[in-house]
Amino acid sequence: MEFPVEKLIRAAATAREKAYAPYSNFRVGAALLTGKGHCYTGCNVENVSYGLSCCAERVALFKAVSEGERDFEAIAVTCGTEDYCTPCGACRQVLAEFGTEIKVYMVNCRGEYRVQTVGQLMPALFGGKRE
Ligand code: THU
Repeated sequence: MEFPVEKLIRAAATAREKAYAPYSNFRVGAALLTGKGHCYTGCNVENVSYGLSCCAERVALFKAVSEGERDFEAIAVTCGTEDYCTPCGACRQVLAEFGTEIKVYMVNCRGEYRVQTVGQLMPALFGGKRE
């Protein structure tokens, strides 16, 4: 990847600082890399009507798609926890719409990561764009 993964992880960590999470106090940041090397970030945005909250990954993806992007290379996700931050099932499904080969960098509080593709994280998904 031309865009270094460390830079993507830093972008996710910076986005996490913007998280609006007064109900769960669980702050998440994501940074999505396009095929052309552009980076779109997102944080979780919660609502007093809890079910209306949106995850960081989907905020990043929806920002990017609304700017005309469709081609994605990788996403980094960080929650600032000891454990690697793994995307929820809903975000996996939404990412899969744009490609099961998208790499997901799941980051812990030390900036270490584990990487898997969306297809690996979401086997036997409903629909989705297959390479
Ligand atoms: N959250 C994310 O932003 N991404 C995920 O993949 C899982 C969960 C958010 C949603 C909610 O604001 C908070 O984390 C606690 O679930």
